[in-house]
Amino acid sequence: MKKRLQNTDVKNKTVVLRVDYNVPMRNNQILDDSKIKETLETINYLLDQNCKIVILSHLGKVKTEKDKETKSLRPVGERLSSLLGRQVYFSELNYGIEVYQRVKALKPQELILLENTRFLDLPNKLESNCDPQLSEFFASLGDVFVNDAFASSHRKHASTYGISMYLETCIGFLMQKEIDAIDKYILNATHPFTIVMGGSKIDDKLSLIKNLLPKCDHMLLGGGIANSALYALGFEVGESLVNDDPEIVKEIQDLLLKYKDKIVLPFDAIVGSTYDPNYVKYKRINEIGKNDMINDIGTITLQEYEKIINQSSTIFINGTMGIYEDIKFANGTKELLSILARSNKTVIAGGGDAASSVKNLGYKDKLTYVCSGGGATLEYISLGHLKALENVKDEEEVETLEI
Ligand code: 3PG
Repeated sequence: MKKRLQNTDVKNKTVVLRVDYNVPMRNNQILDDSKIKETLETINYLLDQNCKIVILSHLGKVKTEKDKETKSLRPVGERLSSLLGRQVYFSELNYGIEVYQRVKALKPQELILLENTRFLDLPNKLESNCDPQLSEFFASLGDVFVNDAFASSHRKHASTYGISMYLETCIGFLMQKEIDAIDKYILNATHPFTIVMGGSKIDDKLSLIKNLLPKCDHMLLGGGIANSALYALGFEVGESLVNDDPEIVKEIQDLLLKYKDKIVLPFDAIVGSTYDPNYVKYKRINEIGKNDMINDIGTITLQEYEKIINQSSTIFINGTMGIYEDIKFANGTKELLSILARSNKTVIAGGGDAASSVKNLGYKDKLTYVCSGGGATLEYISLGHLKALENVKDEEEVETLEI
């Protein structure tokens, strides 16, 4: 385990704290502040330790100057301020001598949130390309770096990884909670271990799927991932979302062959049509027509998946079974969560869409654990480590060095 905050001397120090405040926003309003609330334990601990706190985060992807209009962290700073019941200063600048001087003028128990680190991606991708000078600058702001941005830790960016090359680093309480849960429930899963893999794009998840297949006993597919697998097997999938890149199709075919005893595909579907937004029809997979779009799994699939779930000890769900945001195609995802909730098995949900659907459909408290990260959760599960933490010392290593 990486060096933990509670085992690091931060008393009276200036701490650079990387969090993941990549919250959903509309019209500069925060739609869900869970990611901010989840960092309060670490922040309150640092306040108790009389620290000065410099907070770094990204928000969304910043590719054009226009993106900056909707990706400012200012509203996040205001929400953090009201959650903490104390002032959080906000700095529009996040690089340069003025920022350095402002940070050096902080008093104990004062907090400052710097503007979205990805604003520094324009024009030269300084943050995302882990620019050494920017990394060193972030490090110069404090005495200790606390990384609590679990959901960003699959990225080797200046504010997640680069800074750790120049500053003593430890991991905060949210990061610890996430890693401990994945270690316990997934990496050391009690078998039979079933993975429910959904979501729209298979190319995003192909390497994860490859890594997970040897570790699980069953993998049940849904969403666009299942469509691509059906397509690779030669089924008619009409206008459904699929990846038809010949190289990807070949990779999928190879996996379906190699793991034919583990991978389970939908037997039926709820389809829509490109021509009529109100069209909804139940079909068996071999009845899908040229204009159909497979948008959800059907009842036979649910029954078959339930049988496998009930024979499992641990289930990990990633992604959704269909376009659950559209009421016409929400049943598969909703019913599957209901099956998981009443299964009395160890059930973990992970990945951005799975976590959102679990929350939006009211199952957050009915599952064993819901991981907060998207890509980071999947990376940690498949690789067993997080790129941003590669430079952080292990607890044992720290103890040995101190003897
Ligand atoms: C997330 O929401 O999954 C994290 O904030 C990472 O976001 P990113 O994919 O834009 O790096």
